[in-house]
Amino acid sequence: MENNKNYLANGEIWRDTDGNVIHAHGGHILFWRGVYYWYGENRTGNRYVSVYASKDLMNWEFRRDVITTVTKTQEHRIKTDRALVTADGKKINIERPKVVYNKKIQKFVMWMHVENGVDYSLAACGIAVSDTPDGDFIYLGAFNPFGYMSRDCTLFVDEDDTAYFISASRDNADLHMYRLTDDYLNVDKLVNKLWQGEYREAPAVVKREGIYYMFSSYCTGWAPNQCKYATATGMENSWSVLNKIGDETTYRTQPAFILTVADTGSTYYFSDRWNGQNYDDSRYVVLPLTFDSNQNPMIEYLDQVTIR
Ligand code: GAL
Repeated sequence: MENNKNYLANGEIWRDTDGNVIHAHGGHILFWRGVYYWYGENRTGNRYVSVYASKDLMNWEFRRDVITTVTKTQEHRIKTDRALVTADGKKINIERPKVVYNKKIQKFVMWMHVENGVDYSLAACGIAVSDTPDGDFIYLGAFNPFGYMSRDCTLFVDEDDTAYFISASRDNADLHMYRLTDDYLNVDKLVNKLWQGEYREAPAVVKREGIYYMFSSYCTGWAPNQCKYATATGMENSWSVLNKIGDETTYRTQPAFILTVADTGSTYYFSDRWNGQNYDDSRYVVLPLTFDSNQNPMIEYLDQVTIR
Protein backbone atom coordinates (compact mmCIF):
# COMPACT_ATOMS: atom_id res chain seq x y z
CA MET A 1 0.00 0.00 0.00
CA GLU A 2 1.36 3.33 -1.05
CA ASN A 3 -0.27 6.18 0.82
CA ASN A 4 2.20 9.00 0.82
CA LYS A 5 1.74 11.09 -2.32
CA ASN A 6 1.63 14.78 -1.56
CA TYR A 7 1.10 16.03 -5.09
CA LEU A 8 -0.52 14.97 -8.36
CA ALA A 9 1.73 14.93 -11.44
CA ASN A 10 -0.26 16.17 -14.40
CA GLY A 11 -0.30 13.98 -17.48
CA GLU A 12 1.63 11.17 -15.77
CA ILE A 13 0.16 7.74 -15.05
CA TRP A 14 -1.76 7.98 -11.77
CA ARG A 15 -1.84 4.85 -9.61
CA ASP A 16 -4.08 3.83 -6.75
CA THR A 17 -2.75 2.79 -3.33
CA ASP A 18 -2.31 -0.78 -4.62
CA GLY A 19 -0.14 0.46 -7.47
CA ASN A 20 -2.75 -0.13 -10.19
CA VAL A 21 -3.49 2.45 -12.87
CA ILE A 22 -6.46 4.64 -11.94
CA HIS A 23 -9.27 4.43 -14.51
CA ALA A 24 -11.73 7.18 -13.70
CA HIS A 25 -11.99 9.11 -16.96
CA GLY A 26 -14.63 11.74 -17.66
CA GLY A 27 -15.29 11.51 -13.94
CA HIS A 28 -16.72 13.26 -10.94
CA ILE A 29 -15.87 13.58 -7.23
CA LEU A 30 -18.47 13.34 -4.46
CA PHE A 31 -17.64 14.31 -0.87
CA TRP A 32 -19.47 12.21 1.68
CA ARG A 33 -18.85 11.93 5.42
CA GLY A 34 -15.22 12.99 5.33
CA VAL A 35 -14.28 10.94 2.25
CA TYR A 36 -13.96 11.93 -1.38
CA TYR A 37 -15.29 9.40 -3.90
CA TRP A 38 -13.97 9.64 -7.43
CA TYR A 39 -16.16 7.96 -10.05
CA GLY A 40 -15.17 7.66 -13.67
CA GLU A 41 -15.11 5.68 -16.85
CA ASN A 42 -13.17 2.41 -16.82
CA ARG A 43 -13.33 0.61 -20.15
CA THR A 44 -11.02 -2.28 -19.23
CA GLY A 45 -12.43 -5.84 -19.15
CA ASN A 46 -16.15 -5.92 -18.41
CA ARG A 47 -16.05 -2.61 -16.54
CA TYR A 48 -17.88 0.63 -17.21
CA VAL A 49 -17.54 2.78 -14.07
CA SER A 50 -15.10 2.47 -11.14
CA VAL A 51 -14.92 4.33 -7.84
CA TYR A 52 -11.87 5.28 -5.78
CA ALA A 53 -11.82 6.84 -2.30
CA SER A 54 -9.47 9.33 -0.65
CA LYS A 55 -9.33 11.62 2.33
CA ASP A 56 -6.61 13.89 0.96
CA LEU A 57 -7.48 13.86 -2.78
CA MET A 58 -4.00 12.63 -3.69
CA ASN A 59 -3.86 9.05 -2.38
CA TRP A 60 -6.70 7.05 -3.96
CA GLU A 61 -7.82 3.64 -2.81
CA PHE A 62 -9.69 1.48 -5.33
CA ARG A 63 -13.13 0.65 -3.92
CA ARG A 64 -15.24 -1.04 -6.57
CA ASP A 65 -16.23 -1.42 -10.19
CA VAL A 66 -19.66 0.08 -9.63
CA ILE A 67 -21.09 -0.49 -13.11
CA THR A 68 -20.03 -3.48 -15.21
CA THR A 69 -21.63 -5.67 -17.89
CA VAL A 70 -23.16 -7.79 -15.10
CA THR A 71 -24.52 -5.01 -12.88
CA LYS A 72 -28.02 -5.72 -11.56
CA THR A 73 -30.82 -3.87 -13.29
CA GLN A 74 -34.25 -2.85 -12.14
CA GLU A 75 -37.36 -1.59 -13.83
CA HIS A 76 -37.92 2.13 -13.47
CA ARG A 77 -41.00 4.27 -13.83
CA ILE A 78 -39.49 5.91 -16.90
CA LYS A 79 -39.42 3.51 -19.86
CA THR A 80 -35.71 2.71 -20.21
CA ASP A 81 -33.39 0.39 -22.08
CA ARG A 82 -31.68 -1.67 -19.37
CA ALA A 83 -29.29 -3.64 -21.61
CA LEU A 84 -25.67 -3.45 -20.42
CA VAL A 85 -24.46 -5.52 -23.39
CA THR A 86 -25.59 -5.47 -27.01
CA ALA A 87 -27.73 -8.20 -28.63
CA ASP A 88 -24.53 -9.94 -29.79
CA GLY A 89 -22.94 -9.77 -26.33
CA LYS A 90 -20.60 -6.83 -26.91
CA LYS A 91 -20.05 -3.92 -24.54
CA ILE A 92 -22.12 -0.78 -24.76
CA ASN A 93 -20.47 2.57 -24.06
CA ILE A 94 -20.88 4.54 -20.83
CA GLU A 95 -19.34 7.98 -20.52
CA ARG A 96 -19.07 10.82 -17.99
CA PRO A 97 -20.69 9.18 -14.92
CA LYS A 98 -21.65 11.70 -12.19
CA VAL A 99 -22.91 10.79 -8.70
CA VAL A 100 -24.81 12.85 -6.12
CA TYR A 101 -26.60 12.00 -2.89
CA ASN A 102 -30.36 12.37 -2.65
CA LYS A 103 -31.58 13.12 0.89
CA LYS A 104 -35.18 12.20 0.19
CA ILE A 105 -34.61 8.63 -0.97
CA GLN A 106 -31.28 8.41 0.91
CA LYS A 107 -29.53 6.96 -2.09
CA PHE A 108 -26.57 7.79 -4.27
CA VAL A 109 -27.82 8.57 -7.76
CA MET A 110 -25.64 8.28 -10.86
CA TRP A 111 -26.39 9.88 -14.20
CA MET A 112 -24.29 9.04 -17.24
CA HIS A 113 -24.12 9.13 -21.03
CA VAL A 114 -25.03 5.82 -22.67
CA GLU A 115 -24.31 4.70 -26.25
CA ASN A 116 -24.65 1.40 -28.15
CA GLY A 117 -20.90 0.66 -28.24
CA VAL A 118 -20.67 1.14 -32.01
CA ASP A 119 -21.52 4.79 -32.62
CA TYR A 120 -23.08 7.80 -30.91
CA SER A 121 -26.59 7.43 -32.34
CA LEU A 122 -28.36 6.39 -29.11
CA ALA A 123 -27.54 9.75 -27.46
CA ALA A 124 -29.21 8.66 -24.22
CA CYS A 125 -28.76 9.34 -20.52
CA GLY A 126 -28.64 6.49 -18.01
CA ILE A 127 -29.40 6.32 -14.27
CA ALA A 128 -28.20 4.03 -11.49
CA VAL A 129 -28.73 4.02 -7.70
CA SER A 130 -26.93 2.67 -4.65
CA ASP A 131 -27.42 2.73 -0.86
CA THR A 132 -23.75 3.49 -0.28
CA PRO A 133 -21.28 5.58 -2.28
CA ASP A 134 -19.08 2.61 -3.11
CA GLY A 135 -21.62 -0.21 -3.21
CA ASP A 136 -22.89 -2.08 -6.24
CA PHE A 137 -25.11 0.32 -8.12
CA ILE A 138 -28.38 -0.89 -9.62
CA TYR A 139 -28.76 0.17 -13.23
CA LEU A 140 -32.17 1.67 -14.00
CA GLY A 141 -31.46 1.99 -17.71
CA ALA A 142 -31.11 4.62 -20.41
CA PHE A 143 -33.58 6.95 -22.09
CA ASN A 144 -33.82 10.16 -24.11
CA PRO A 145 -35.01 12.98 -21.81
CA PHE A 146 -38.31 14.24 -23.26
CA GLY A 147 -37.19 12.46 -26.44
CA TYR A 148 -34.12 14.66 -26.83
CA MET A 149 -30.60 13.57 -27.70
CA SER A 150 -28.36 13.61 -24.63
CA ARG A 151 -24.57 13.16 -24.86
CA ASP A 152 -21.77 14.83 -22.81
CA CYS A 153 -23.27 15.58 -19.42
CA THR A 154 -22.89 16.72 -15.85
CA LEU A 155 -24.92 16.93 -12.63
CA PHE A 156 -25.10 19.88 -10.28
CA VAL A 157 -26.88 20.09 -6.91
CA ASP A 158 -27.69 23.59 -5.71
CA GLU A 159 -27.62 24.69 -2.06
CA ASP A 160 -31.39 24.14 -1.74
CA ASP A 161 -30.89 20.53 -2.98
CA THR A 162 -32.42 21.21 -6.39
CA ALA A 163 -30.48 19.10 -8.86
CA TYR A 164 -29.79 19.74 -12.53
CA PHE A 165 -28.70 17.44 -15.34
CA ILE A 166 -26.97 19.25 -18.17
CA SER A 167 -26.31 17.51 -21.47
CA ALA A 168 -25.42 18.17 -25.09
CA SER A 169 -28.44 17.85 -27.36
CA ARG A 170 -29.42 18.36 -31.03
CA ASP A 171 -26.31 16.55 -32.25
CA ASN A 172 -24.35 18.52 -29.63
CA ALA A 173 -25.38 21.93 -31.02
CA ASP A 174 -27.25 23.02 -27.86
CA LEU A 175 -26.60 22.39 -24.19
CA HIS A 176 -29.80 21.45 -22.37
CA MET A 177 -30.35 21.97 -18.67
CA TYR A 178 -33.00 19.83 -16.95
CA ARG A 179 -34.21 20.37 -13.41
CA LEU A 180 -34.57 16.92 -11.82
CA THR A 181 -37.50 15.60 -9.82
CA ASP A 182 -36.91 15.74 -6.07
CA ASP A 183 -35.76 12.11 -5.96
CA TYR A 184 -33.24 12.91 -8.76
CA LEU A 185 -34.53 9.90 -10.71
CA ASN A 186 -36.13 11.72 -13.62
CA VAL A 187 -36.07 14.97 -15.50
CA ASP A 188 -38.82 17.28 -14.30
CA LYS A 189 -38.46 20.24 -16.62
CA LEU A 190 -36.22 21.47 -19.40
CA VAL A 191 -35.26 24.82 -17.85
CA ASN A 192 -32.60 26.15 -20.23
CA LYS A 193 -31.33 25.62 -23.77
CA LEU A 194 -27.88 27.16 -23.70
CA TRP A 195 -25.54 28.50 -26.38
CA GLN A 196 -27.68 27.33 -29.24
CA GLY A 197 -25.59 26.22 -32.21
CA GLU A 198 -22.28 26.64 -30.35
CA TYR A 199 -21.56 22.90 -29.87
CA ARG A 200 -20.52 22.95 -26.22
CA GLU A 201 -19.44 19.70 -24.59
CA ALA A 202 -17.95 18.42 -21.34
CA PRO A 203 -19.96 20.75 -19.08
CA ALA A 204 -18.84 21.31 -15.46
CA VAL A 205 -20.55 23.61 -12.95
CA VAL A 206 -19.39 25.23 -9.73
CA LYS A 207 -21.02 27.81 -7.49
CA ARG A 208 -18.84 30.32 -5.66
CA GLU A 209 -19.83 33.41 -3.69
CA GLY A 210 -23.29 33.52 -5.20
CA ILE A 211 -22.16 33.12 -8.81
CA TYR A 212 -22.67 30.00 -10.92
CA TYR A 213 -19.89 29.15 -13.37
CA MET A 214 -20.23 26.66 -16.19
CA PHE A 215 -17.13 25.44 -18.00
CA SER A 216 -17.32 23.57 -21.29
CA SER A 217 -15.28 22.62 -24.32
CA TYR A 218 -16.00 22.87 -28.01
CA CYS A 219 -16.92 19.69 -29.88
CA THR A 220 -13.76 18.17 -31.41
CA GLY A 221 -13.92 14.52 -30.30
CA TRP A 222 -10.83 13.39 -28.39
CA ALA A 223 -8.79 16.38 -29.57
CA PRO A 224 -8.52 19.20 -27.01
CA ASN A 225 -9.73 22.73 -27.68
CA GLN A 226 -10.26 26.05 -25.89
CA CYS A 227 -12.30 25.76 -22.72
CA LYS A 228 -14.82 28.54 -22.16
CA TYR A 229 -16.89 29.54 -19.17
CA ALA A 230 -20.10 31.42 -18.60
CA THR A 231 -21.73 32.81 -15.47
CA ALA A 232 -25.23 33.19 -14.09
CA THR A 233 -26.90 34.38 -10.90
CA GLY A 234 -29.05 31.24 -10.78
CA MET A 235 -29.05 27.96 -12.67
CA GLU A 236 -32.38 28.71 -14.31
CA ASN A 237 -31.54 32.35 -15.09
CA SER A 238 -29.93 33.62 -18.28
CA TRP A 239 -26.31 32.64 -18.74
CA SER A 240 -23.62 35.00 -19.99
CA VAL A 241 -21.79 34.69 -23.28
CA LEU A 242 -18.85 32.29 -23.39
CA ASN A 243 -15.45 33.57 -22.24
CA LYS A 244 -12.10 31.95 -22.91
CA ILE A 245 -10.08 30.40 -20.09
CA GLY A 246 -6.65 28.75 -20.27
CA ASP A 247 -4.80 28.47 -23.57
CA GLU A 248 -6.11 27.38 -26.98
CA THR A 249 -6.10 23.68 -26.09
CA THR A 250 -6.68 24.29 -22.36
CA TYR A 251 -3.23 22.74 -21.82
CA ARG A 252 -4.32 19.70 -23.87
CA THR A 253 -7.30 18.93 -21.65
CA GLN A 254 -11.09 18.74 -21.63
CA PRO A 255 -13.15 19.45 -18.47
CA ALA A 256 -14.34 16.54 -16.34
CA PHE A 257 -15.63 18.44 -13.27
CA ILE A 258 -14.81 21.21 -10.82
CA LEU A 259 -13.86 20.16 -7.31
CA THR A 260 -14.52 22.32 -4.26
CA VAL A 261 -12.37 21.17 -1.35
CA ALA A 262 -14.57 20.71 1.70
CA ASP A 263 -12.25 22.19 4.36
CA THR A 264 -10.76 25.13 2.50
CA GLY A 265 -13.34 25.99 -0.18
CA SER A 266 -10.57 26.10 -2.78
CA THR A 267 -11.51 24.99 -6.27
CA TYR A 268 -9.76 22.82 -8.83
CA TYR A 269 -10.26 22.17 -12.52
CA PHE A 270 -10.21 18.38 -13.03
CA SER A 271 -9.81 17.34 -16.63
CA ASP A 272 -9.01 14.56 -19.04
CA ARG A 273 -6.04 14.49 -21.34
CA TRP A 274 -7.52 11.95 -23.72
CA ASN A 275 -5.52 9.53 -25.80
CA GLY A 276 -7.74 8.97 -28.84
CA GLN A 277 -5.41 6.23 -30.21
CA ASN A 278 -5.26 4.33 -26.95
CA TYR A 279 -8.22 5.32 -24.79
CA ASP A 280 -7.07 3.35 -21.71
CA ASP A 281 -3.88 5.39 -21.63
CA SER A 282 -5.80 8.66 -21.26
CA ARG A 283 -4.42 10.79 -18.42
CA TYR A 284 -5.63 13.37 -15.92
CA VAL A 285 -4.72 17.00 -15.39
CA VAL A 286 -5.77 18.93 -12.29
CA LEU A 287 -5.17 22.67 -12.00
CA PRO A 288 -6.05 25.25 -9.33
CA LEU A 289 -9.09 27.26 -10.37
CA THR A 290 -8.52 30.72 -8.96
CA PHE A 291 -10.55 33.92 -9.14
CA ASP A 292 -9.41 37.50 -9.63
CA SER A 293 -10.83 40.49 -7.74
CA ASN A 294 -13.71 40.69 -10.27
CA GLN A 295 -14.57 37.05 -9.62
CA ASN A 296 -13.30 36.00 -13.06
CA PRO A 297 -11.95 32.45 -13.01
CA MET A 298 -8.41 31.60 -14.09
CA ILE A 299 -6.41 28.43 -14.65
CA GLU A 300 -2.69 28.23 -15.23
CA TYR A 301 -0.65 25.20 -16.09
CA LEU A 302 1.44 23.49 -13.43
CA ASP A 303 3.29 20.17 -13.77
CA GLN A 304 2.49 19.18 -10.20
CA VAL A 305 -0.38 20.17 -7.95
CA THR A 306 -0.78 19.73 -4.22
CA ILE A 307 -4.46 19.86 -3.34
CA ARG A 308 -5.23 21.91 -0.29
C1 GAL B 1 -15.64 13.98 -26.76
C2 GAL B 1 -16.47 13.80 -25.52
C3 GAL B 1 -16.01 12.54 -24.85
C4 GAL B 1 -16.19 11.40 -25.85
C5 GAL B 1 -15.44 11.71 -27.12
C6 GAL B 1 -15.65 10.65 -28.19
O1 GAL B 1 -15.98 15.16 -27.44
O2 GAL B 1 -16.31 14.89 -24.66
O3 GAL B 1 -16.76 12.32 -23.68
O4 GAL B 1 -17.56 11.24 -26.15
O5 GAL B 1 -15.86 12.94 -27.65
O6 GAL B 1 -15.07 11.02 -29.41
